[in-house]
Amino acid sequence: MEISVSGAAVTGAKTGTLVIGAFADGSLTSAADAVDRAAGGTLSAALARGDLDGKAGATLLFPSLAGVGADRVLLVSLGARTALGDRSFRDAVSGAGRALAAGPVADAAVALVEVDVPNRGLAWRVQTSARLLADAAYKFDAPRANPPAPRGARKLSLLVGGANSELDEAVRTGLAVAEGMALTKDLGNLGGNVCNPAYMADTAVAMGKELGFEVEILERADMEALGMQSALSVGRASYSPCKFIVMKYSKGGASKPIVLVGKGMTFDTGGVSLKPGANLDEMKYDMCGGGTVLGLFRTVARLGLPINLVGLVMAVENMPGGNASRPGDVVRSMAGITIEILNTDAEGRLVLCDALTYAERFEPACVIDIATLTGACVIALGAHASGLFANDEALAAELLAAGHATGDRAWQMPLWDDYQGQLKSNFADMSNLGGPPAGAVTAALFLSHFTRKYKWAHLDIAGTSSVSGDAKGATGRPVPLLSEFLLSRAAAAAS
Ligand code: BES
Ligand code: MN
Ligand code: ZN
Repeated sequence: MEISVSGAAVTGAKTGTLVIGAFADGSLTSAADAVDRAAGGTLSAALARGDLDGKAGATLLFPSLAGVGADRVLLVSLGARTALGDRSFRDAVSGAGRALAAGPVADAAVALVEVDVPNRGLAWRVQTSARLLADAAYKFDAPRANPPAPRGARKLSLLVGGANSELDEAVRTGLAVAEGMALTKDLGNLGGNVCNPAYMADTAVAMGKELGFEVEILERADMEALGMQSALSVGRASYSPCKFIVMKYSKGGASKPIVLVGKGMTFDTGGVSLKPGANLDEMKYDMCGGGTVLGLFRTVARLGLPINLVGLVMAVENMPGGNASRPGDVVRSMAGITIEILNTDAEGRLVLCDALTYAERFEPACVIDIATLTGACVIALGAHASGLFANDEALAAELLAAGHATGDRAWQMPLWDDYQGQLKSNFADMSNLGGPPAGAVTAALFLSHFTRKYKWAHLDIAGTSSVSGDAKGATGRPVPLLSEFLLSRAAAAAS
């Protein structure tokens, strides 16, 4: 996808499709008003007839309009004028993006960034539009024998009053975030037979070569030498050996690194505590935390952000088998804490704890782990917010703000000691099972035992990283949230 900003006038723009906005009350944006005047009131007449649904993101296509340079005009609803905000702006841009991605036209001009979203500047509108338009064009056709011919707009211009370099930068940023999301989605959407631990490791190595950052793959023997028995216990019964992916991006001079830790469970059968069969295919998405870390490295390296970033991905497959962990087994983590495995399906925390201990050696500015950790988080927050847990309130606040800025939101949950009793074991320092109440909290609390030495946040993305049903697929979340976080850290470091 190619996106640029242009200062062209709406009515004059020579383009396949011109995109303009209208409100639910039938009023037009100033760009749409200019088009309407040139076209003799065709748009306002259609709106008066009720041809455009008032819901933000609904679209209405006009084949061609007299007095307008574009071949077609796509009118998109911005929802109620009084409710105009981040959400309706994003819905409108995404709606336009979907229509453009499905249509036959190769190039389009989008005149929506002129809309005055309360409390959001032009750069935000441009960056958000670039990300959403590029993301709407994401397709996953790789495994098909006869992939459909490429369709949809590939070349977009965003019509703004007059071009300036800050806006070019905003476009570049939005595109890089969408590119990171596309990698995260691809890795998630691939079946577990293809996207296994070795595939994730190979992807990281290839990307490091392409974009110029360091990647090291720790094999089982290396992990054994480090004492990562907890992580290794999860992958024991798989024919695909565990890979611990260590990525280092270093453009931040002497500053302390931000460390990202991803759960890369390339398939989670539950192990001996086997999961039921319904929707089990969706456990291919259990590597989306690791996929997010890879996606973020793509975004950050593409942009050349002036930060130091370490990425740690535990790529493991959780299988039953003769060699598998049993409930009741006790393993010793790298930190020395012993763990009674009461349920082999609570495996995410078993791999993350060792990666979190490994993170200490980088003397991090902060550590953020990203994991499809608990079904309980899906029950608590559904598909709209990732669960956020942190041992540092300032870090939590930064992440919540990044979520708001992108619409890729998180919601903070407690890490209170009160829940600690649920992790008691009669046979080891801790059990890996907290019981049904507050399952997302006890999972996070388990991790907190391994993060005492640094500022830490945990994002439970079980509900946000993929969607079920007809539109089944990976979402690329929380790449937008964390990109925004890293962008603000980079901006703070530069100032
Ligand atoms: N990968 C799952 C969590 C999950 C569930 C992600 C649904 C996405 C959708 C995780 O490994 C798991 O199985 N968690 C168990 C923990 C329980 C045994 C304490 C769960 O949530 O049921
Ligand atoms: Mn599990
Ligand atoms: Zn899992």
